[in-house]
Amino acid sequence: EETTVGIIGGGPAGLLLSRLLHRSGIPSVVLECRDRSYVEQRQRAGMLEQTTVDVLRGCGAGARMDREGLVHDGIELRFDGRSQHIDFPGLTDGRRVTIYAQTEIVKDLISLQLSELSDGAPLLFGAEVHSVSGLGPAPESEPAHGHGHLHGHGHGPEPLDPESERPVLHYTHEGRERTLRCDFVVGCDGFHGVSRSALPASVVRTYEREYPYSWLGILAEAPPSCDELIYAHSPRGFALHSMRSPSVSRLYLQVPNGTDPAEWPDERIWDELDARFALRDAPGWRVNRGPVTSKAVLPMRSSVTEPMRHGRLFLAGDAAHIVPPTGAKGLNLAVADVAVLARAFARYHGTGDTAALDSYGADRLRRVWRAEHFSYFMTTTLHTSPDQSPFDTRLQLAQLDRIATSRTAATELAENYAGLALLD
Ligand code: FAD
Ligand code: DHB
Repeated sequence: EETTVGIIGGGPAGLLLSRLLHRSGIPSVVLECRDRSYVEQRQRAGMLEQTTVDVLRGCGAGARMDREGLVHDGIELRFDGRSQHIDFPGLTDGRRVTIYAQTEIVKDLISLQLSELSDGAPLLFGAEVHSVSGLGPAPESEPAHGHGHLHGHGHGPEPLDPESERPVLHYTHEGRERTLRCDFVVGCDGFHGVSRSALPASVVRTYEREYPYSWLGILAEAPPSCDELIYAHSPRGFALHSMRSPSVSRLYLQVPNGTDPAEWPDERIWDELDARFALRDAPGWRVNRGPVTSKAVLPMRSSVTEPMRHGRLFLAGDAAHIVPPTGAKGLNLAVADVAVLARAFARYHGTGDTAALDSYGADRLRRVWRAEHFSYFMTTTLHTSPDQSPFDTRLQLAQLDRIATSRTAATELAENYAGLALLD
């Protein structure tokens, strides 16, 4: 078997890339190790930047999102017992965000792909990739005085050689060992995937940070208690009020690492949410309660793997980078990666020009590191560390007060949260 672009992973990044390539007439195959219902039910992100909405709409995958998505003009910050609205359109050039769950994006993309299967890209569930071969020889290890570790900013990997060997994906499907020969391979296989490990050790670098807290996330059949998301700093720790629809709330509480969800019966969760969202001027404010339909503890980390391209292998989405969830950048970064990559493939396909493919890694890493910084900033400004001193807390409150009172500080938050344009 062979194809033009072999895509490892059928999460949002892999599915969307396949859709975008299909629209440009470029063949691809998506290999996804899990089954369809597992991929469609996996509870994750929900907040979409304007750019993400535009990309989904632009490839014909936005119809249900446009009907059911909830458009928000900003967020609310709660700290020190008070509340501050941050107005995105007023602080940016009219940018808004949309609440529409990752599960729904994945369902929409899968149903489009399968309904077009006769002429569209094959999507195989239960297809687990073990390895990638044919990536060519690993480059010589670093010369002693070289710039080798400074990927990006002009020190990127070698330009693509159109004559180089073509990679092969080795996978298992329906109990049989199979191979797929590809012009290009894109690793969209998430943080636990195999594609990162196909990068030769002599070129790869990973930058990581772990955080001393996790999130307990619930879905509840309760109408949201607010029109916009609430990010709360409190002496008891961080809390976030989000939503999935007019009848479903999504709520998160900061909890210690290693917390067992069984320690958190529903009543304890609701009481703790009320305590963390408490307002001095509205002592009666409460979170709407309802049946809890999902409960899980999510660890947090920051991680970036460089480079995002080696020869004919590209990384996109969580396979290349992880952000802590505060600020909701993970899914949006994955969408931006594949939107830029699909354009680069289209340019190569149409003209043979490799320039956009060559600069993909460096272009994306600039934006990835911007989002890494923003996610780190939101996380460390709003959470309480186990070893936090009263001094540290005063610094956090000073920063939040600055955002609440300075248009400049609020604009910096709004531009990053609502998202930057795909390319500048
Ligand atoms: P994934 O969604 O991880 O998809 C990768 C796919 O590859 C999976 O379907 C996997 O089964 C498949 N795969 C893996 N290995 C192989 C293999 N060897 N062969 C074939 N297939 C393979 N972001 C936010 O913005 N807000 C949130 O609230 C939020 N919550 C999150 C909660 C959790 C528990 C996690 C893990 C992430 C969360 N994120 C959140 C991040 C966001 O969901 C991710 O950034 C997004 O899913 C990235 O999409 P992706 O397609 O790159 O990776
Ligand atoms: C959601 C998750 C986030 O991490 C965030 O910052 C905003 C919203 C959500 O799941 O809805």
